[in-house]
Amino acid sequence: MSKVDYSKVTVIILAAGKGTRMKSNLPKVLHPVAGLPILYRTLNQVKSLGVTDIRVVLGYGQKLVEPLVNNFRAKVCIQKEQKGTADAVKSANLSTAQKTVIILNGDHPFIKAQELSALMKKHIQEESEFSVITSIVDQPGDRGRMIYFENKPKAIVEAKDASAETLKIKEVNTGMYITQLAILEKFLPKLSLHAGSKEWYFTEILSLVVEANHKVAFLKSSEDLAFGVNSQKDLAIATGRAFENKNKALMDKGVVILNPATTFIEELVEVGAGTVIYPGVHLKGKTAIGCFCVLEPNAFIHSSGIENSVQIKMGSYIERSLVKEKAIIGPYAHLRPESHIGKGAKVGNFVETKKAVLGEGVKASHLSYLGDVSIGANTNIGCGVVTCNYTLKKTKEKTTIGSNVFVGSNTQLIAPVNLEDDSCTAAGSVINKDVPKNALAVARAKQINKENFKKK
Ligand code: UD1
Ligand code: MG
Repeated sequence: MSKVDYSKVTVIILAAGKGTRMKSNLPKVLHPVAGLPILYRTLNQVKSLGVTDIRVVLGYGQKLVEPLVNNFRAKVCIQKEQKGTADAVKSANLSTAQKTVIILNGDHPFIKAQELSALMKKHIQEESEFSVITSIVDQPGDRGRMIYFENKPKAIVEAKDASAETLKIKEVNTGMYITQLAILEKFLPKLSLHAGSKEWYFTEILSLVVEANHKVAFLKSSEDLAFGVNSQKDLAIATGRAFENKNKALMDKGVVILNPATTFIEELVEVGAGTVIYPGVHLKGKTAIGCFCVLEPNAFIHSSGIENSVQIKMGSYIERSLVKEKAIIGPYAHLRPESHIGKGAKVGNFVETKKAVLGEGVKASHLSYLGDVSIGANTNIGCGVVTCNYTLKKTKEKTTIGSNVFVGSNTQLIAPVNLEDDSCTAAGSVINKDVPKNALAVARAKQINKENFKKK
């Protein structure tokens, strides 16, 4: 069969509903499933098919959803009032649509390009004029049921209109359809208002198309594709499934995950083979982890780069930062945005960094705050060192520390200040003047011993 030309296809995504059953003010399609909004997931897949005419029908929370649609260069169509799925389809400016139209429910997080393309081929193969994408599922719940008459597709009955007998049917409507513009133009005006809900149901189009003797087909899809999110419980199931799928894909590539049930890795995260992930780890955003790293329990890493053979010890929190190879972080370290930790460097327990560049082999092993600072190679930061970067004028000032510097324990560095290469500070010093190369800075009160003090 010849390749489908997706530049000749219009895809309409129905996303105008509030999602009343979510009991949330956030538009339903923006709810994230393992870090990615449901609508992002669908747009991403549709785009990868090569579809250029993508229309997203928006209504509730339009202003919030629009930026996401614009990012994918899809068109926004407005459904003024949410009067049902048929009305939503009508809102998609059909007069300018391509000959072939795919309609997708906006609340299904697991629509995959590959599966859509297989269904499209089936639709063409069967010379269907109107195809409903269906699925056979164990728990059909409140989804529309597929009705056959003499083995031929006949109608879709919504669960709330179904008899007890009909509810037993396990083939459900996914709310996705492949059809022709001509069919939509012919039958959409003939639909009637659903008496109970006072909405226009797109599902009712099927029986009209069948009665007019057009060729229809029910195309069976996977249970994943058929999974729509209507409630917070559905969202939790979808999220669990997304994490599970991600873990499986990573394990297939040689990542060691000790307990997949308690490991949470979002879709866009990359992890190299041989990396060991302990329970309770969260990897979020566009994080990339190298090979042969060890991520100990409860490490939380957001939008960061972790190079090969890095060890992130228990309970560390890392955000928008870069950790170079063989570095050791934690336990309980906090790398705030724009921390760059050099090769083989060590950031130990209760050390917080922010806008901090630590050179190769730098050691900051205990209890420090390092903000707005650059630190040269092999410098040792003693316990309790603080860069005092925030001034009374509410500005942030920078500290520069050279290579091979020894910053004594409990040194306070009043920024702006510069410690040149090979310099030292005495423990407990408050440094507010630059320290030249090779110098020792002592900035603390001299010790006085009062003899026989206790006896007095
Ligand atoms: C719908 C189908 C049902 C199917 C199920 C699969 C109808 C009448 N029912 O039910 O047969 O089994 O999907 O998940 O189509 N929307 C609009 N404008 C509206 C109403 C809805 O854009 O006026 C959008 C929603 O934002 C949502 C999608 O259409 O993305 C489906 O609406 P929803 O209310 O979730 O329909 P279901 O009850 O799930
Ligand atoms: Mg739904």
